[in-house]
Amino acid sequence: MYDRLKGFRDFYPEEMAARREIVDTVEDACRRYGFRETASPFLEPAEMWTDKSGEDIVDELYAFEDKGERHVTLAPELTPTAARMIAAKQQELSKPIKWFSTRPFWRYEQVQQGRFREFYQTNADIFGTDDPRADAEVIALAAEYLSDLGLDADDVEIRVSHRDILGAVLRSFDSEVDVRAAIRAVDKSEKIDRTEYHDLLHDAGLSYDEAAEFDDLLAATDRDSLSELADTAGTDTARDAVSNLTAVLDAVDDLGAGEFCTLSLETARGLDYYTGVVFECFDAAGEVSRAVLGGGRYDDLIEEFGGQPTPAVGFGQGYATLPLLLERAGVAPEESLSTDYYVLQVGDTEPAAASVTRELRAQGHVVETDLSGRSFGAQLGYADSINAETVVIVGENDLAEGNYTLRDMETGEQETVPVSEFPA
Ligand code: HAM
Repeated sequence: MYDRLKGFRDFYPEEMAARREIVDTVEDACRRYGFRETASPFLEPAEMWTDKSGEDIVDELYAFEDKGERHVTLAPELTPTAARMIAAKQQELSKPIKWFSTRPFWRYEQVQQGRFREFYQTNADIFGTDDPRADAEVIALAAEYLSDLGLDADDVEIRVSHRDILGAVLRSFDSEVDVRAAIRAVDKSEKIDRTEYHDLLHDAGLSYDEAAEFDDLLAATDRDSLSELADTAGTDTARDAVSNLTAVLDAVDDLGAGEFCTLSLETARGLDYYTGVVFECFDAAGEVSRAVLGGGRYDDLIEEFGGQPTPAVGFGQGYATLPLLLERAGVAPEESLSTDYYVLQVGDTEPAAASVTRELRAQGHVVETDLSGRSFGAQLGYADSINAETVVIVGENDLAEGNYTLRDMETGEQETVPVSEFPA
């Protein structure tokens, strides 16, 4: 027997049924919002990440040299792939471009609650507009399917921030700061203790006093303190960022998703390509500690990939923490199979059983029948194990009289129906 690799998972049918329900709910909302489905390669040139995404994700690449001596990697996320696809066909696509896709990704991560080495994401992104309504649209989309899944604003919190506000505040200090390194430190701040966090800010160039002051400034959680923060930073970039973030939050309110969102400058995101609004969604009760989704605006990436300047905003919804959150909130889909009919064969009734099976399937029902010549009792036991709602008993004696027997598996009640009347 072989073992699975650490951080890789199998999904057996019951588990997969629950997972499918969740993914379908997310994708249905994407379609309703007018996002169109795409698909893309799992293996990509490694430079797509080593050039632009930041050192954290580069450390986690499943990268290797292929037989043609190309440096390739299993994709750790979609965003650079999406940027590559847009840059390649930009002229042909009418804007705004709204895409979604669900697929696996690979990161050599520390395996822990909600973090695996192979995991799935649905990404939803809008390309070709920097209007705050586009940022709001992707946030509202997330709120929409979270609520379709049975979660409300007491269960989840979408924390919204802006990279330029963080950058402007960092640049307002006397010390020379490596803004990217400091932003990566902010991204880690929830997962490490204060001393370690201040050490990372110090490594990025802030003095310890400045690190403490920065930490205090980021505690701002209402729109009024945002304006004060812009004044503290004292630059046009900071003021523009504050008005952009405010416009996005207003547009989110207009789309009815405001109650899901909180302003949280401590949200920074770990990837380097973000340029504006960034957001992450967490369990409001704090029991599931890792983010369930994350995204933001990345207006420069497509140009950096050789395309025309094209603003972009979107997010990745993972499926490792989301089921934990649904479980915590008591709204997880059941891990069970469902079957509409089991066609039970007794005696030499194969052709009749095959015919009724075919007709029921043609009507769109989920139907199973005997494939291994089992006894009546064994077939009934199997029908029960797959949660068949109705068992159609096709017996020699019944057939001779032109009937089937239908057994309701919940009540155990049986009725005889003429072959000519079933299925209706
Ligand atoms: P990310 O924050 O790295 O962003 O991932 C987004 C989501 O994917 C996370 O919130 C989490 O649900 C899930 N995820 C990430 N890593 C793992 C893992 N090791 N195991 C299980 N789930 C995981 C991005 O990937 C960006 N490219 C998203 C984006 C799209 N930004 C703009 N458009």
